[in-house]
Amino acid sequence: MQRVNIGVIGCGGMGRSVLHKLLACDQRLCLTAIYDPDSRSIAKTREAFGDSAKVCATARAVVEMPEIDWVMIASWNSRHCEQVVAAFEAGKHVFCQKPLALNLDECLRMLQAWKQSGKMFNIGFTLRYSPHYRKIKQLVEDGHIGSLISMEFNETLDFNHGGYIMGDWRRLRKNAGTHLLEKCCHDIDLVNWIVASRAARVASFGGLDFFVPENADRAKLIGVREDGKKAYQTWNSLIDLDPFQSDKDIVDNQVAIIEYANGVRSTFHTNCNAAIPERRMYLLGTEGTLRADVLAGTIQLKRIGFDTHLEDFSTTSRGGHGGGDQILAKELADSMLNQRPPSVGLMEGLESAVTCFAIDEAMDRGTVIDAGVYWRQLQLSQVAGGQVESQAATQ
Ligand SMILES: NC(=O)c1ccc[n+]([C@@H]2O[C@H](COP(=O)([O-])OP(=O)(O)OC[C@H]3O[C@@H](n4cnc5c(N)ncnc54)[C@H](O)[C@@H]3O)[C@@H](O)[C@H]2O)c1
Repeated sequence: MQRVNIGVIGCGGMGRSVLHKLLACDQRLCLTAIYDPDSRSIAKTREAFGDSAKVCATARAVVEMPEIDWVMIASWNSRHCEQVVAAFEAGKHVFCQKPLALNLDECLRMLQAWKQSGKMFNIGFTLRYSPHYRKIKQLVEDGHIGSLISMEFNETLDFNHGGYIMGDWRRLRKNAGTHLLEKCCHDIDLVNWIVASRAARVASFGGLDFFVPENADRAKLIGVREDGKKAYQTWNSLIDLDPFQSDKDIVDNQVAIIEYANGVRSTFHTNCNAAIPERRMYLLGTEGTLRADVLAGTIQLKRIGFDTHLEDFSTTSRGGHGGGDQILAKELADSMLNQRPPSVGLMEGLESAVTCFAIDEAMDRGTVIDAGVYWRQLQLSQVAGGQVESQAATQ
């Protein structure tokens, strides 16, 4: 029995959630070291997983433990780059939560460190593992709607989820990056994958229009939930500021247009104050139309024609992550135990992050952005994408 020693950096909600599902996969996977600057997260981790793991005083101490095989990082996004690079430099395999990093320079440093290490990297793009999205990808790839021409997608968040973001560490760009990067990098990644190209031109508008002090009365008007929790503050957060009064520099609503290098055009919409939350896609191809919502778990497809009818391709997966968490843990365990290369890695993390950087630059500057400028700095072509190039990048 070959034991795999895991060191975890960042033991908050997501760190513990992935660990819980991962350790359940195989007894050979062992939690060997942990680090988190917040003693509450350390205490919860010891409560959930026992006290056999060494509690380290720094992130570096975790990566430098000779017995550690895999480092799992679920810290604030602003720490991902330094921690991932340190883990690669120490010769470890890495699982890191999304988004990859906060800016292009950090992405480049991570790409370089990954290439030099020759180690595996897996990014926490949970939705990539969801049977719902795997089905959509397969339907598009198998030509059920012909060639994809244009599409819409969105991520509108339940108002309590929005309140959590605005009262948490994620409310500040210096900690988390923009709202698009922190929250919607999943959705951007899914569309990059389904469209199978890279963004060529992007435009975007957005603003902070709802979570402002003048709207604080909205929470009072709604009142409290049955369990006594205040509207907009029902989620557990380590920071838990009033979402209307908190200092923040992210938007609470944003729209974007992306024109991909292969000609596919796409629109995106996010809003953090939804009564009817959605994570929806609507794809139009030369031969058919597909519409889907992961929260409801629906996938419908209709071929163009006079006698065609709506076909139901819904999987049983639904909800925020569409059943992806469990499958991610299973495949990550397979990488750890059997050296199976992760299906989603650094290149996908980088492509999603860079697409977000370009969209947010368009929003911040109020102009259409040529995303090719980013790809050229990374020495990546616009049209390629995905696996072939990622293998090339490792050589
Ligand atoms: N894949 C997904 O679907 C998904 C969902 C939620 C969050 N995430 C990502 O997971 C990461 C953690 O988010 P979360 O929801 O668990 O937040 P959280 O606030 O619950 O936990 C974050 C933890 O990081 C710790 N931390 C802060 N600075 C640190 C440092 N320098 N080194 C180590 N730990 C540090 C905090 O003390 C806290 O315990 C983020 O990158 C977030 O984007 C991914």
